Amino acid sequence: MFMNFRRVKKCQFLQLISMCCVLSVLMVCWEQVDHHVVSHVKSYSYRYLINSYDFINRSLSVSREEADSFGSFPYLFNPKSTCADSDVLLLLFVKTSPENFRRRQAIRSTWGNQTYIRSELGVAVKVMFIMGVHPEQHKRDALQRKLHAEDQDHGDLVQQAFSDTFHNLTVKLLLQFRWAHAYCAHARFLMSADDDIFIHMPNLVRYLQDLSKQNVQDLWVGHVHRGSPPVRRKESKYYVPFQMYQWASYPDYTAGAGYVVSGDVAAKIYQATLSLNASLHIDDVFMGMCAITMGVSPQEHVYFSGEGKAPYHPCIYEKMITSHGHEDDLAYLWREATDPQVYGVSSGFLGKLYCTAVKIMLLCKPYYSNSYSCKAAFS
Ligand SMILES: *[C@@H]1O[C@H](CO)[C@@H](O)[C@H](O)[C@H]1NC(C)=O
Ligand SMILES: *[C@@H]1O[C@H](CO)[C@@H](O)[C@H](O)[C@H]1NC(C)=O
Ligand SMILES: *[C@@H]1O[C@H](CO)[C@@H](O)[C@H](O)[C@H]1NC(C)=O
Ligand SMILES: *[C@@H]1O[C@H](CO)[C@@H](O)[C@H](O)[C@H]1NC(C)=O
Repeated sequence: MFMNFRRVKKCQFLQLISMCCVLSVLMVCWEQVDHHVVSHVKSYSYRYLINSYDFINRSLSVSREEADSFGSFPYLFNPKSTCADSDVLLLLFVKTSPENFRRRQAIRSTWGNQTYIRSELGVAVKVMFIMGVHPEQHKRDALQRKLHAEDQDHGDLVQQAFSDTFHNLTVKLLLQFRWAHAYCAHARFLMSADDDIFIHMPNLVRYLQDLSKQNVQDLWVGHVHRGSPPVRRKESKYYVPFQMYQWASYPDYTAGAGYVVSGDVAAKIYQATLSLNASLHIDDVFMGMCAITMGVSPQEHVYFSGEGKAPYHPCIYEKMITSHGHEDDLAYLWREATDPQVYGVSSGFLGKLYCTAVKIMLLCKPYYSNSYSCKAAFS
């Protein structure tokens, strides 16, 4: 085919003109443009042009006693010896709340099934449920009695006496890294996850075993947020006042829905928590602050999800690691996603072609930004 050169030129010229139009409209309406946009532009500029976060070290350092005071609550359940005498591949913390019995039970009978992991996957993965106490005093006693029974049955609850609220999530983060340091420091990897997550345990274990064979260090992997601005709208639950965080952009961090760190990074994060002001309540952002003071940066894995659910499809199941927002469909998804037939679906040239096409259709739709990025279609 011969290209019509002049037509291409004309096309480009038209594109340029329309870009200019859009830009000038934007400039003229700058004042009216949502604050949202402005803060993102500022934040991305900071992240990509300056990208220095030394101020975190300088401004948020506190003494060891002060740092301790952010997370020193007495333990109510503490199965200290869970990790003892075994070679733990993964210590997996599920951030839960006292009343979420059903979610914990669903996890134990699907991806967190210890018998399955031991017998089918042949590794030690310790799934621990992390929580505070119910914020309402009058509900607390009854819940604690039920938790006591649950602990007798499973022995996998770690609870401290802080109020289990959204604004205490960073306390829960401190608890995870302190518990890991105290009772499971030899675990090769540590994971933190929400209690409404689906984890494709066979895929995760295979991935971690590969990393472990290569003796990987300095690993922090998940769904990465880069250059996120602090939210300054008072109505938002992510609202962070200026006094608490004055700068335009947060350091890079992985979505709290589910991320993995290697043992050495877990130790470094623990160290960082001993000298940082932990009053910022957004736990995954605080994790980013700890990491950057220790020189650790997160890396992206396209099959760790952020907020959204992964599409239901064998071509996705074959590669997926985490998917967020599952409560009632955990058993269904576990059954479907771990069906041995899933692993044949993309074999051969035609299989690959088929799965790539399916994933492009599922993940590369415009405005679709829910779970995995379009990049995942090509990996
Ligand atoms: C856990 O896995 C084992 C072995 O695969 C299976 O026999 C058992 O039924 C599972 N437990 C639950 C609660 O689903
Ligand atoms: C966090 O927990 C502590 C201890 O229970 C409580 O005093 C405090 O009010 C909680 N903070 C928030 C923001 O919920
Ligand atoms: C930690 O930061 C908060 C909010 O900026 C501040 O109010 C508090 O005094 C600081 N704590 C310490 C121990 O410096
Ligand atoms: C932050 O401070 C600690 C101890 O003062 C130091 O070891 C570390 O290198 C500093 N990190 C950065 C990024 O400046």
